[in-house]
Amino acid sequence: MRTVVIGGTGHIGTYLVPGLVRFGHDVTVLSRGARTPYQSNAAWRNVDLIRVDRDAEDAAGTFGERIADLDPDIVIDLICFTETSARQLAEALEGQIQHLLHCGTIWVHGPSAVVPTREDAPRKPFGEYGIQKAAIEAYLLGKARRDALPVTVIHPGHICGPGWTPVNPAGNFDLTVYEKLAHGQEVVLPNLGLETLNPVHAEDVADLFLAAIASRSTAVGESFHAVASDAVTLRGYAYAVADRFGQEANLTYKPLGEWDRNDAAATWDHVMHSPNCSMEKADRLLGYRPRYSAVESALTGIDWLVENGKITA
Ligand SMILES: NC(=O)c1ccc[n+]([C@@H]2O[C@H](COP(=O)([O-])OP(=O)(O)OC[C@H]3O[C@@H](n4cnc5c(N)ncnc54)[C@H](OP(=O)(O)O)[C@@H]3O)[C@@H](O)[C@H]2O)c1
Repeated sequence: MRTVVIGGTGHIGTYLVPGLVRFGHDVTVLSRGARTPYQSNAAWRNVDLIRVDRDAEDAAGTFGERIADLDPDIVIDLICFTETSARQLAEALEGQIQHLLHCGTIWVHGPSAVVPTREDAPRKPFGEYGIQKAAIEAYLLGKARRDALPVTVIHPGHICGPGWTPVNPAGNFDLTVYEKLAHGQEVVLPNLGLETLNPVHAEDVADLFLAAIASRSTAVGESFHAVASDAVTLRGYAYAVADRFGQEANLTYKPLGEWDRNDAAATWDHVMHSPNCSMEKADRLLGYRPRYSAVESALTGIDWLVENGKITA
């Protein structure tokens, strides 16, 4: 299989690209060349790297043709954020590829309603990012049904792993939250700390892409969540982080309405979504189950923060 990964040197690509090489794919990765994978792997020696700015080529209307000219069997699009961009790629590849895999987000659901949320739950996204991702999904799955475009959409939760900062128990990226939990100091959580986060390890996201490729005939025309085996409450996450450092969590609570909407935008975003997505469909159709729990996923990133001196514990 000649497989093209668009945006393949980030969180997901770090695991996905070596996985594709391991399974014998002839892999080409496109990126701007600004960053390198989070972990070194000899598999990258067998990967063709192409430097390109997708945004610039999307604007010029040349990106879809550039990908089609690579004559791929499989295209994995990890960095598509607008329906216009998705249309350009899909139209260029129509009738030419065996499988197009698009990376979405569980934010397509908007706020949780009935949980665990299934892939077929009505879409009520808010915020430009979630709205655009939902529009892309509707367009691509519509193309699959109407025009037999062989597409699969994978919706990750909050991606964690060694190398970057995971969302913390207050629903933001403030490193002092981890330090306070590590030292038994007071941490303020929104509301009663009972809303949820839905992390996933980047390796599990990559493995779901690989599972969808392996079960192409059942994966085509479908969307799948890519989250950990469970969701975690903010409170439960704080308990687990404190426990990792041999401490009791010292928690206090403040209503979300008292958190500044600008300064605490990430907290608002996570609490308003409070995702808790089901992984039943991936198990049933692809025989796929995530390896990591929500807490295990996040702890891989927190351990990395400690080991690399980003937080003192
Ligand atoms: N991160 C999360 O928690 C999360 C959660 C849910 C869904 N998602 C979805 O996951 C996807 C992102 O995957 P990821 O987290 O693995 O990505 P990532 O870590 O942000 O890496 C992005 C990759 O794309 C490349 N890139 C960025 N802008 C580019 C451009 N204009 N032209 C060409 N290459 C570009 C980057 O390399 P260069 O910088 O070198 O170009 C890198 O290879 C998105 O579709 C996002 O919506 C992410």
